[in-house]
Amino acid sequence: MSNSENIPQFPETFWRDSVSLPDFPKLQESIKTDTAIVGGGITGITAAYLLAKEGVNVTLIDAGDLLNGVTGHTTAKITAQHGIIYDEFIQHFGKEKASLYYQACMKAKEFIENTIQTHHIDCDYSQEDAYIFTNSDEYISTLESEKKAYDQLDIPGELTTDMPVDIPVKSVLKMKDQAQFHPLKYLNVLVDEAVKNGLKIYEHTTAVDIEYNKHPTIITRDEHRINCNYVIQASHYPFYDGQGFYPTRMYPERSYIIAVKTPEKFPGGMYINAESPSRSIRSANMDGEDLWLIVGENHKTGQGESTMKHYEALQDYAEEQFGISEFVYRWSAQDLTTMDKVPYIGSVTKNEENVYVATGYRKWGMTNGTIAAKIITDRILDNDNPYSELFTPSRFQADPSVRKFASMNADVAKHLISGKLEYTQNNVKDLEPDHATVTRVKGKRTGVYKDQDKQLYAVDTTCKHLGCEVTWNSGERTWDCPCHGSRYSYTGEVIEGPAKEPLNKVELE
Ligand code: FES
Repeated sequence: MSNSENIPQFPETFWRDSVSLPDFPKLQESIKTDTAIVGGGITGITAAYLLAKEGVNVTLIDAGDLLNGVTGHTTAKITAQHGIIYDEFIQHFGKEKASLYYQACMKAKEFIENTIQTHHIDCDYSQEDAYIFTNSDEYISTLESEKKAYDQLDIPGELTTDMPVDIPVKSVLKMKDQAQFHPLKYLNVLVDEAVKNGLKIYEHTTAVDIEYNKHPTIITRDEHRINCNYVIQASHYPFYDGQGFYPTRMYPERSYIIAVKTPEKFPGGMYINAESPSRSIRSANMDGEDLWLIVGENHKTGQGESTMKHYEALQDYAEEQFGISEFVYRWSAQDLTTMDKVPYIGSVTKNEENVYVATGYRKWGMTNGTIAAKIITDRILDNDNPYSELFTPSRFQADPSVRKFASMNADVAKHLISGKLEYTQNNVKDLEPDHATVTRVKGKRTGVYKDQDKQLYAVDTTCKHLGCEVTWNSGERTWDCPCHGSRYSYTGEVIEGPAKEPLNKVELE
């Protein structure tokens, strides 16, 4: 199969394409509720399900459609094997906390399993072993150290040179009895159950601010107010920061997924490599046939070269390792990494105890999102939760966070300045259909996209968050900000925060 021409022209996720989800209205008035949840992904829906079951009056709003954010674009592995982390966690936090992290992940897996059983959810759930593999001599000792960490933490694991999928490897670290599923089939049932228990859902309703007096009040873009006792920000990037300085404490990364059929049957297992470029592999069930999901090519948002190159690299890899008989889907995802790689879950700041955040899942959203839903709902329901302290956003780990903090900010400053100075003289007239360029219009740095029908869309490229310059993402046809990961459609509408306002439109003469 030759390159690029076989790649689907538009990104679309298999998960969304293979279920039909219900529609919900837009919020048309100001309302009162006990708990307001912002964001309809795994965190928000699981939290809504848990609270509604306990008779709490819950309202969930989403800026777009339910399950169309990170959860709709995930790899959906349910595992405690979050890459190579346990050796690092033991070094930085000690054995007890590293062990708590593992236990929290396994509890999340158990919760998902029990919920599937309780509601007889048909969501292609399967128990799988998880593997980290390397074909590089450099990483053999890294995997050995990670295995030692498993032993110290009583994590069932095995160091081997064998794994079911046929890829050349020098060393493999196996974590037994992990799992995978179809996340939207699972969450669709949780939505149903929660609605039966009184959950109200409003789609296309954007939260832009919170007023915090005695109780929090969410303000929507249409200036409706949601008065409540608790707010759960499950919107990936917290839309309300409360001076918690989240943009400086996390960085966004994009990754790419292709879904292909190969001549071979998938042999089982879930895989991720140790080295760069990253490669992660699992299968999904598409009408009884194996779909191979090949994931990787991570890079900081707005800092990749042509984003189509990343899909092509995954295609080449899949072709070389397994052979591709059909290229079915491609899509990409964005996630945030915190300074110490542990998500921020808990009160947004010490002063605003009833406003919660859940963010920084570092691409492991199925377990981390479930952990977050459990920690936050336990707080609201006044239940103890043994993991809440580990994830509290106000923690401060001096090492390695200080160094990273400095370098992340230096990186942002670099983009803030270099983006402004960059001078382009591209002629919009020469632009090919379905391409974009950055040019100057009346002295303003302007991004111009020409669609298939030669219609032009021009936007001021200054990000509405803190003023960095956005760059074109050719794979998704979006303008992406390299500083904190805001993303905009080619018309300038916000797809992903922290920005809340659309890019300014620019008139072309
Ligand atoms: Fe922060 Fe763009 S996302 S400046």
